[in-house]
Parts: sequence; structure tokens; C-alpha cells
Amino acid sequence: MSKRAFPLSGVHALLEPGPVVLLSSAAGGRANVMALSWHTLLEFEPPLVACVISSRNHSFAAIDASGECVINLPGAALADAIVGCGNTSGATLDKFAAFGLSPEPARLVAPPLIRECFASLECRLADRSLVARYGLFIFEVVAAWHDPALPHEPTLHHRSYGEFMLSGPAITLPSRAR
Ligand SMILES: Cc1cc2nc3c(=O)[nH]c(=O)nc-3n(C[C@H](O)[C@H](O)[C@H](O)COP(=O)(O)O)c2cc1C
Repeated sequence: MSKRAFPLSGVHALLEPGPVVLLSSAAGGRANVMALSWHTLLEFEPPLVACVISSRNHSFAAIDASGECVINLPGAALADAIVGCGNTSGATLDKFAAFGLSPEPARLVAPPLIRECFASLECRLADRSLVARYGLFIFEVVAAWHDPALPHEPTLHHRSYGEFMLSGPAITLPSRAR
């Protein structure tokens, strides 16, 4: 595997800026991937992440049944794959093949990591109480990986209908917030 272990204590810093992510899932031995931008952190450690997944998506049933997914963080070089995965259905398309994404086995869950993404977070469902009402899945990140050879910036941030922002330069200010 090209990725190296990433500390769970650092996961919040990957997701806090709100990048578009690629969510991989698996059902019946078949993997799928969708774009997702409606996610938020709920806890630092163990990391808890809430994701809104519409039941209209093919991914929904696989994640609902298995309680597992991988949150993959793509850099802007994967922009075309992000839009492709967000505009096609895994019911009729092998998106890994179609968009040049390479699945790699995860350690603790069945859905694959995506090699071309700079970080991958293995997730297990921690709370399904808001799934029926809002499609809101609360996941615990149980293992995290990153590829030191891939740039972590810029990431894509969705506005709507094909308009994205790219993450920009970092500045450091005298703040004590973790
Ligand atoms: C930039 C972007 C962000 C998206 N964010 C979400 C999201 O947060 N939740 C969601 O349910 N669908 C989201 N989508 C839509 C799904 O990715 C899309 O419906 C996809 O085709 C689902 O694939 P599937 O049917 O194979 O699961 C997003 C799409 C794009 C392009």
C-alpha cells in the first residue's frame, strides 16, 4: 500500500476546512464511490464525522446495510474524477475504472481506500438515529492513512452547480482553538 498510518488525533484538521470528499462503499463484493460535501466533525477523538447521504444515491443502501465507508480526500488534481463520481450512478457504472481511481484494501473495513487520494479515513457507523429522518450518518473514524508523496493542497470546496473554490494559502494567527 502506498499510504502510511495517519494519527487519529490529526483527522479533524483534514476535514475542518470542508473539502469535497470521495466516499467509497462496498456491497456484494463490489465497490462504489460518490462525491460528498455535506459533512461535519462532531468530536476530536475518537474522530466522529456526520455525513448526509441521500437515499436516492446507490451508495446509500450499501452504507446503510454494512455500516462502513471510507472517506477519501482528493486534491484538485482529481477534479474531473470528483465531478464524475458525483454525477453518475454506481448502479450502472464501475466508477473506479471510469475515472481512473485505484482501489486498495482497507485494514478494518470492506470498502477500499483510493490510492490517488492524499488521505483515507476508514469509518464505521456509530449512530444511525438520524438516518431515516435526515440521511445523516454519524461515523467513527477507526483508522486513518495518508500518502506523504501526494500534495494535501489545494482541495476543492463545492459552492453549487459546477462552481467550486480551491483552498488557498494558510496563515497562522494567535489562536488557542485546537
Ligand atoms: C461536489 C459534489 C458534492 C456532493 N455532495 C453530496 C452530499 O453531500 N450528499 C449526497 O447525498 N450527495 C452528494 N452529491 C451527489 C452524489 O455524489 C451523486 O448523487 C452521485 O451520483 C451518487 O453516486 P451513487 O449513486 O453511485 O451513490 C454531491 C455531488 C457533487 C458533484
